[in-house]
This record gives sequence, C-alpha cells and structure tokens, in this order.
Amino acid sequence: VSRPTRIGVPVNGRAYDVVVGSRILEHLDEHVTLPADAARAVVVTQEPVIAAGHVEPVEDALRRAGLDVHRREVPDGEGAKDVDVLADLWASCAELPLARTDLVVAVGGGVVGDLAGFAAATFNRGVAVLQVPTTLLAQVDAAIGGKTGINLAQGKNLVGAFHQPVGVVCDVDVLATLPGRVRTEGLGEVVKYGLSHDPTILHLLEERTGGGAARVDDPLLLEELVRRSVAVKAAVVAADEREGGQRAFLNLGHTYGHAIEALTGYDLVLHGEAVSMGLVLALRLGVRLGATPATVADRGERLLERVGLPIRPPTLDRAAVWATMRRDKKAGRDGVRFVLLEDEGRCVLRVPPEVDVDAVIDELERS
Ligand SMILES: NC(=O)c1ccc[n+]([C@@H]2O[C@H](COP(=O)([O-])OP(=O)(O)OC[C@H]3O[C@@H](n4cnc5c(N)ncnc54)[C@H](O)[C@@H]3O)[C@@H](O)[C@H]2O)c1
Repeated sequence: VSRPTRIGVPVNGRAYDVVVGSRILEHLDEHVTLPADAARAVVVTQEPVIAAGHVEPVEDALRRAGLDVHRREVPDGEGAKDVDVLADLWASCAELPLARTDLVVAVGGGVVGDLAGFAAATFNRGVAVLQVPTTLLAQVDAAIGGKTGINLAQGKNLVGAFHQPVGVVCDVDVLATLPGRVRTEGLGEVVKYGLSHDPTILHLLEERTGGGAARVDDPLLLEELVRRSVAVKAAVVAADEREGGQRAFLNLGHTYGHAIEALTGYDLVLHGEAVSMGLVLALRLGVRLGATPATVADRGERLLERVGLPIRPPTLDRAAVWATMRRDKKAGRDGVRFVLLEDEGRCVLRVPPEVDVDAVIDELERS
C-alpha cells in the first residue's frame, strides 16, 4: 500500500484536496479534514455501491471521527438525478435535522455525486459535501470541480449549482468491483486528458496494453492514471472555475459526444463511450482542417480501440445532431465551436465549416 497523493484545488480563495490512493476509505477520517462543527453526516449512496462493500468502511470512519451517521439510499441509474428524488432527500435532511454546519457525504458514481452535491448546495442554503467517487468517471471527472445538478424531462443537467466539496477521496481499489463496461467507459475521459493536456497518460496506457486489446485493471496503473487525470482537472478548474477559456479544452470530444448521448437517450451509449466517438471526430476533423498531425490522430484512435472503447458512432438523424450541437454551451453566434488538437497536449478552439464536420461524420457512420 503506497502513500496517498494529495492534489490541491485552490478555488474561491478556499482550497480543498483530492486524495488519490489505495485502501484509503477505511481510514478516510485520517485523510480528510472534516468540518470542525459538524455533528451529523448523511451518506447518500446506491445499492450496487453498498453491495460492493464500499459504504460501510466510509460510515465506520465517519463514526470514528465522532459523527452521527445516517444513510440514504437513492435509486440506481441516471433516473436518480430527479426532482422527486431530490425532494425526498431534502425532506429526510429536514427530518433529522441536518444543521447548516453538518455534512453530506456522496458515496457512488457521478449520479450520486451530482444529486447529493446539489442537495448539499441547496439544503439549508448550502451545507458541506464530501465527495467519495466510486467509478473511474467520477474519480477523474464528475467529483472534481463543483458542478452539481439534476435532470429535467427537457434535458440533462438543466438545474444545478456550483458547489465545491470540502474534499474528494478517490480510492482506486473500489474500481475493482465495477461492471467491466462502466470501468472501460471511464477510460474515455482518461484518454481525453492524455490527448488534451498530459501525453504521459497516452504513453502509460500504450505501454500496458502492449500490441493488442487489454483490460486496464492493474491497481498501480489505475492509481497513476487517476492521479494524472485529477491533476489536469484540478489545475484547469483552479485556473478557471466557471467555464470558458481553459476549461473549455476539457470538452475535447464532448460536442459531438453530447449529441450522441442525447439522441440515443442516455442509456444505449454510456458517457465515456460517447466521448470516445467524439474524440475520434475531433481528431479526424483536425486532420481534415490541417490543424492536427495525422500521426497524433492515429495514435489517439488506436489507443481508444485498444482499451476497448467504441469509436464508430451510431447512425443518427443529422439535422437532430446539428440542433443538439448548436445548443452546446460552446456554441457561439458564429457557429458550433469544436476543441481540436494542434498536438498532443495542445488544444485550440475552432468553428469548422459544417460541410467538413458532415464529411467526417459520414465517414465514421459508414465505416
Ligand atoms: N459534475 C460533473 O462535472 C460531471 C462530469 C461528468 C459526468 N457527470 C455525471 O455523472 C453521471 C455518470 O456517472 P457514472 O458514469 O459514474 O455513472 P453512475 O453514477 O450511474 O454509476 C454507474 C453504475 O455503477 C454503480 N457503481 C458505482 N460505483 C461502483 C463500484 N465501485 N462497484 C460497483 N458498482 C458501482 C452505480 O451504482 C451505477 O449502477 C452522469 O449523470 C453525468 O451527468 C457529472
């Protein structure tokens, strides 16, 4: 067991740490500074996370730290990011009651993190939240940066708030119990960080996957990948807390990826899988526009395939794809903006001609 790494996220004049390591959940109380005045904690989680054995160690550690601990289980799946589920959480916090100085602890994937984070942002005008992400996607992305929220029938993440956690605890051992497809999905974001900011990630993945397809399940490798990915997200978030500028570069692969997710109903294609398809579009589009060297694009595409991610998009109604991309937060009055790569670790924002985007999507859909 190696010593955990602490990565600081200095935002709002108040820093918090992301702790990355192995076997750290059971000693959680030693790794994070809990709010001094907290007397009670509400642990928000889901059945698969409980069944995998990740919730009890967290609760035991919180009790050791002197907190009165209550568990609230929310439904599994994206459907939990719902106003009725949120209202139930608010009501149960009110009944306890959870005081302004108490703590919400999110133990689960991005769904639990977004929902519990938003409950914490809003209950009692805001209580502290500790994020304990248990999926690869949540560890490298969702749990860091303070974005929280729920979905409406009209769209995903339409209601939410920025609410930075008091700490984030990423124990890579919990990833061992993830369903295979969910774990592989998280690698979509990891490869994205490698392409957009930290090419060492690409190198590490290539080294371990050798010549052919391989599962990425070595805990030491996972720890290094999570650490590096968290470092990228933390640095970008700190520099630019509310989107725009640098933070937009984290959306490499997401413009088209979001459209694929939205048009397939958020269940057929997982987020990280959609990002993988979006990365391939961004890479090939970059080559077509003369922005991206072909060697960089080939390397990225090969790696996505090797770690087991899908790279061919489903055939979708093109007008609907454009309509969704135009609603993307990066779309400006001048058209749909894409993050492209000038090189490994170097991004640029471009508004490409729509005919070029269509040509690449045609090519991908037909392949
Ligand atoms: N806030 C942000 O910045 C941000 C960024 C990216 C994604 N998100 C959100 O994250 C959500 C997706 O998150 P996700 O991919 O983690 O999915 P998820 O939260 O639905 O988790 C996937 C499944 O794995 C289970 N699970 C979680 N940890 C487990 C473990 N260790 N062992 C066994 N099973 C486990 C969950 O119960 C669930 O069934 C989306 O709602 C998305 O909008 C938010």
